[in-house]
Amino acid sequence: MSFFDNNGPGGATADVIISVRDLIVGFGDKVVMKGLDLDVYRGEVLGFVGGSGQGKSVLTRAILGLVPTRGGSIRIFGRDRDSLAPAERRALEQRWGVLFQNGALFSGLTVKQNIQMPMRETRDLSPRLMDELAMLKLDLVGLKPDAADKFPSELSGGMVKRAALARALALDPELVFLDEPTSGLDPIGAAEFDELIGTLQKTLGLTVFMVTHDLDSLYAICDRVAALADGKVIAAGPLDTLLESDHPWLRAYFHGARGGRFAAKGPD
Ligand SMILES: Nc1ncnc2c1ncn2[C@@H]1O[C@H](COP(=O)(O)OP(=O)(O)OP(=O)(O)O)[C@@H](O)[C@H]1O
Ligand SMILES: [Mg+2]
Repeated sequence: MSFFDNNGPGGATADVIISVRDLIVGFGDKVVMKGLDLDVYRGEVLGFVGGSGQGKSVLTRAILGLVPTRGGSIRIFGRDRDSLAPAERRALEQRWGVLFQNGALFSGLTVKQNIQMPMRETRDLSPRLMDELAMLKLDLVGLKPDAADKFPSELSGGMVKRAALARALALDPELVFLDEPTSGLDPIGAAEFDELIGTLQKTLGLTVFMVTHDLDSLYAICDRVAALADGKVIAAGPLDTLLESDHPWLRAYFHGARGGRFAAKGPD
């Protein structure tokens, strides 16, 4: 089986929403992406795994256009991002939302102001409409209305993640990038957040690119998993396929001490 054919989940010919080919990214002498290929299909939750410092966040930022690339191509929504005029690029950027690994929210702004930030930057909406929209987004992520006027420091870790997700959804994106959305949450909080992402993905028809270290998340909500090692995607496919692989890195990752339960137990 080729990992990079046009067959999406279920084997049907799928719409490729992100297509990365032969990507090279480096900083000084350090080359982080060494000819990386990856496809993300419309409507799937793709889990992206890899050891710490391997380049999961760098790849996310490269796809978003936030770090320069040295070679290869990145197509999003069928467009080659390098060939876009600035106005086209801005239009494209409004079709996705991002939850970054660090600095999820601006600490000096309330939750409501954080959610409204992308609206303020890109839309010409009345304050009243923006308030209504912000309250809708809060409700969508399971936060109570009284969270709107709180500052991030007044929220629990799980609430901060939810508020950051509300901001990522501010412009009704089709595609959402989540970089370690459940890190720092306790297992119950993480499971609740996974459930929220899964529900939103289904109800809003989102495509989700999710970097995660959380093996439970992979089982709970990911349609496919892609694994990064040595600057390349070494495997991409349904989790079961990766679990059965003989690849040394995959075996170590999924069947090592912390992933040991995968060997014995499948999804319930
Ligand atoms: N702006 C930068 N300048 C120089 N090096 C960078 C920069 N951003 C990332 N790197 C380097 O690129 C490599 C990949 O970093 P990245 O943050 O993508 O790792 P990661 O896989 O997301 O790790 P983690 O799981 O810990 O979040 C690291 O060696 C990092 O130091
Ligand atoms: Mg990272």
